[in-house]
Amino acid sequence: MPGTLILIRHGQSLWNKDDRFCGWVDIKLSETGREQARHSAKLILESGYVQPDICFTSRLSRAIESANIILEEMDCQYIDEVKSWRLNERHYGKLQGEPKSHILELYGKEQYQFWRRAFKGCPPAVDPGDKYYCIDDRRYARVAKNELPRAESLQMVTKRLLPFYNKYVVPHLEADETVLMVTHGSIVRALVKHLYAIDDEAISSVNIPNGIPMVIKFNSAMAPETEHFEFLDPERARIEAEKVARQGFEKSK
Ligand code: 3PG
Repeated sequence: MPGTLILIRHGQSLWNKDDRFCGWVDIKLSETGREQARHSAKLILESGYVQPDICFTSRLSRAIESANIILEEMDCQYIDEVKSWRLNERHYGKLQGEPKSHILELYGKEQYQFWRRAFKGCPPAVDPGDKYYCIDDRRYARVAKNELPRAESLQMVTKRLLPFYNKYVVPHLEADETVLMVTHGSIVRALVKHLYAIDDEAISSVNIPNGIPMVIKFNSAMAPETEHFEFLDPERARIEAEKVARQGFEKSK
């Protein structure tokens, strides 16, 4: 029998809290974010999962720290942890560092939503020398320069994510293991779009809350057993996802 994927967006980061575009900028968790990570471990344990077999995360601290908190809370810090830039948040190009409300005000709702949620919406690219260029960082030193993005749409994220998912994650699922993946909103959106065959239009209204796990069980054809994805705390997830959708439309608290 194929295994199970526990998929989580990291806890709230300091820039999530301030409603600023983050992308590849390495911003730490807020205290609420740490609490959310602890709570997500509790939700996983309550749902009956004792310990995952392997953990995948990105090269960004907010996901790594969330993963480490979850592994500690689940008492399984010994499992292998694989980090890859292919699980990084979508590169938000020149929008990185900008308050979401500022971009909305400057460019209007249609352009803002296109950059934020359209499957093919790609923000303007960063140039070397830009304040938050961040792809010269030594954490990407082993990656060929021409593979690293300077801005991405969700479609571009899908193209760099799926080869990694198929090569490194699927074999663990086929071997009946429980895989924990602690990653970012755009990675979760790209993966559920792929797994649940969500079309380009429908994915634009999918928003992913911080720190609420979803559990995906696979059938022998390596497709999810259920027709729709569901979070472990669906009501909380719905409320938090709505807050994500509204970011930029209300001044940050
Ligand atoms: C970011 O990178 O700013 C967030 O993590 C995701 O932002 P979004 O919800 O605006 O896509």
